[in-house]
Amino acid sequence: MNRLTIHTDGNGPTINRHIYGHFAEHLGRCFYDGIWVGEDSPIPNTRGIRDDVVAALRHINIPNLRWPGGCFADDYHWRDGIGPREERPGRVNTHWGNVIETNHFGTHEFLDLCEQLDCEPYICGNVGSGTVQEMRDWLEYLTFAGDSTLADARRQNGRDDPWPITYWGIGNENWGCGGNMRAEFYADVYRRYATYCRHFDGRKLYRIAGGPHNADYHWTDVLMREAAAFMDGLSLHYYSMIQWDSKGSATDFDESGWFTILKKALYMDTIIGQHSAIMDRYDPDRRVGLVVDEWGTWYDAEPGTNPAFLYQQNTLRDALVAAVTLHIFHKHCERVHMANIAQTVNVLQAMVLTQGEHMILTPTYHVFEMFKGHQNATRLPILVEPEDYVFDNDAIPQISASASRNAAGEILVTFCNTSPNQPADLTCNLHGTGALNVTGRILTAESMNARNTFESPEAVEPKPFDRFSICNGHLAITLPAMSVVALTLT
Ligand code: AHR
Repeated sequence: MNRLTIHTDGNGPTINRHIYGHFAEHLGRCFYDGIWVGEDSPIPNTRGIRDDVVAALRHINIPNLRWPGGCFADDYHWRDGIGPREERPGRVNTHWGNVIETNHFGTHEFLDLCEQLDCEPYICGNVGSGTVQEMRDWLEYLTFAGDSTLADARRQNGRDDPWPITYWGIGNENWGCGGNMRAEFYADVYRRYATYCRHFDGRKLYRIAGGPHNADYHWTDVLMREAAAFMDGLSLHYYSMIQWDSKGSATDFDESGWFTILKKALYMDTIIGQHSAIMDRYDPDRRVGLVVDEWGTWYDAEPGTNPAFLYQQNTLRDALVAAVTLHIFHKHCERVHMANIAQTVNVLQAMVLTQGEHMILTPTYHVFEMFKGHQNATRLPILVEPEDYVFDNDAIPQISASASRNAAGEILVTFCNTSPNQPADLTCNLHGTGALNVTGRILTAESMNARNTFESPEAVEPKPFDRFSICNGHLAITLPAMSVVALTLT
């Protein structure tokens, strides 16, 4: 029997809503087609930005959007993306298929998108091939209210007021595509860039250093030792994939593929724990956030699509990955201040997929929608005592769960059953709770690789759920195999 104890009247840290952030790069069909169709498109749009995508993302309360990369960020020169569109230069997108980047989507378009989404922009500046002056000038262009040449150029390009920028990345993967630097070298480079990255209206800028990937603990140690005083956040990238050179199909997999990807996703708990322990040595008050600004599943691109465009389908397996990962972020929310799933539209573990004028929601999208009540809620103390889900002489916990209480006193408890073939009986003690109304929703399907397609867009979507009973602060629940369940207790 799986057991759970939740202290519903307990207090914990706030689950920062920015943990539910997103990442969109100039890569494949993420922007061009997926978000940006241009003002003259027959696809309904507002100033060139797709209305259907904006409405979908607003519905999950998207808190922030990271842009323009990724690897693209360290090859991006912001002046290419301002001014009349027909005069903007075409550049080769060297990281993603050598296609021509028209720069039709640039600074003004991105910040218009964020305003339409009502989310915070998170801009990643160019360290790898840019200069300190270029980055500093971008900030003046964006944030200065007075009459400088750069602020006047912004006005000429149609924006009078400065934008309220808070989140600023200083390079991306600077151990790799962002300059192939050593940690010791990048730490000094970071300090230099950070010195000139300021808000020109006097507000505080949240500066995020290019961080490690996976289990590169040396990078974290050096950055924290040499540069913690100059940063507010340290980025971390971790993708759940079978193997870098043979990632496997997003849709055609057996139980081994299911188990392996979920086990890889759960490894996020270990690496966050290890990076946090290093950060604790230099920053015991946890002022510096760990910003997991790229995470998600990564498979071989869909057959018949450009492999450099990283277009992949999204199944129930991805929904489970999203759910267990968000639970891990909640667990570490005193250190994890922000996270950004890769990537919002048509790339990797996307929220939505588009085809011409059509858009579908993925199973991952539905998890973000079911979990949105956790945003900015108080994490409740929880003890999870799961059974094992055993596969091929290996095991992972069958249950993952998290609970929070919002400002109105409503409690949201979210659960996953990771087993693709066994239901999970769960007994849950709710300490501190009186009479309760409970409503439930479930995301599951008949097969591990169930997915939404343009022909069948509602194959996987949340349904009402009532396989639970509650009596005297004791909740008994049966989670069907391979399911994500959300219960709201009022
Ligand atoms: O998300 C795709 C790529 O993965 C990003 O551009 C890069 O930062 C990471 O390696």
